[in-house]
Amino acid sequence: MPLIGKFTPPGDKSISHRLILFSILAQGEMLVKGLSNCEDVLASLKIFRQLGGRAEEERGGLRVWGLDRKIPEGEVYDLYCANSGTTIRLLTGILAGVKGEYVLDGDAQLRRRPMERVAEPLRQMGAKIETLAGKPPVKITGGALNPVEYLMRESSAQLKGAVLLAGFSAAGGPTTVVEKDHTRTHTERLLDYFGGRVESDRLRHTVYPGTLALKESFDTPADPSSAAFFLTAAAFIPGSSVTAENILLSQARTGFLRVLERMGASVRITMTSDTPEPVGDVTVEYQGELSGTEVPSDQVPSLIDEIPILALAATRAGGETVFRQVDELRIKETDRLMSIRHQLGALGARVWIEGDDLHIEGPTSFIIPPSLDSGKDHRLAMTLVLALLAAGARTPILGEESIPVSYPTFHKDLSLLWRDRG
Ligand code: S3P
Repeated sequence: MPLIGKFTPPGDKSISHRLILFSILAQGEMLVKGLSNCEDVLASLKIFRQLGGRAEEERGGLRVWGLDRKIPEGEVYDLYCANSGTTIRLLTGILAGVKGEYVLDGDAQLRRRPMERVAEPLRQMGAKIETLAGKPPVKITGGALNPVEYLMRESSAQLKGAVLLAGFSAAGGPTTVVEKDHTRTHTERLLDYFGGRVESDRLRHTVYPGTLALKESFDTPADPSSAAFFLTAAAFIPGSSVTAENILLSQARTGFLRVLERMGASVRITMTSDTPEPVGDVTVEYQGELSGTEVPSDQVPSLIDEIPILALAATRAGGETVFRQVDELRIKETDRLMSIRHQLGALGARVWIEGDDLHIEGPTSFIIPPSLDSGKDHRLAMTLVLALLAAGARTPILGEESIPVSYPTFHKDLSLLWRDRG
């Protein structure tokens, strides 16, 4: 049964977080249109309000008033980041440089995720930060920071963002972060868009201390990482043709489209706007059986969140697919490398791990186990829904209720694309 039709997923999660969290450092007010209503972004919004930020729903969007670093003093803020790695990492960078006492914590999954990678460079800047054995809860005493030049060991946009955001409050000179590979560029682009001074030269990013000024309004483009589920499924479900509208199309986020093309899918892009981020409509059409491909390590950050669904595509493709050096998957909401291997393996797929490389050999016809287990990992849960759809089978998926963490309208969009089928 093909997937056919058009859909628009929620606003981009990475941009939505930044619009809310950057407002802590900003003056003025702004109408944010199309903000994601996923649980992760709602966690950022709740924290913004708890810190004294004002945000009100109105016709057409959410009006946000910048806090201009004026967080009311005198209490220790207990800030619950729920399941959201982006919230806790970016907020740590922001709050390290804003006077006050903060404790950042999250749910059981977030409490297993590393925070020292962020705390360590911030301490080099003079920040007072404690972690619990390297993980949340994170205690921050915000205050004056010094600039730093930091060479990243991990490819992580959250880490890059945290250091740059601390650098934006560090008086006395510019802060530079040098990346290992290109990761998503939203922190640099949005700091610049809202009046900050940021210079980027390939992997080197320098930020100068300053204050942001919100714009009159901001149109949040739709999330390519959510769109990826149905676009990728269209590439491997015979007869499918799916269009995702108004999608954020920055290079650092659309590696999955280049991989789908290499595997043999038809991918058509119509650009609709370019500032402050490229946006357009994307159509993916089934073109026959896909072929396996190799994803080199320097392309991994551009598709890091799409690996579960691309791995599913690889089980339907002829030959071997390899994702090189995907160790960052081990520290996502679950150990995603193991979850992919176990769950696609439970469906009968040939999936194995060599060192930090993920190998998949297809095509496989799936066997349906009595149940599947997403481990409450939203991206794995959506991948498993589409695996069952492709197999034309049903079985319970444990932890499917985690899907709204990133994509609350996933089932609605799925039924739209099924209802629309010809
Ligand atoms: C994000 C960066 C990525 C990604 C996450 C969102 C961001 O994490 O997996 O979903 O908004 O900066 P890492 O940069 O840690 O890989």
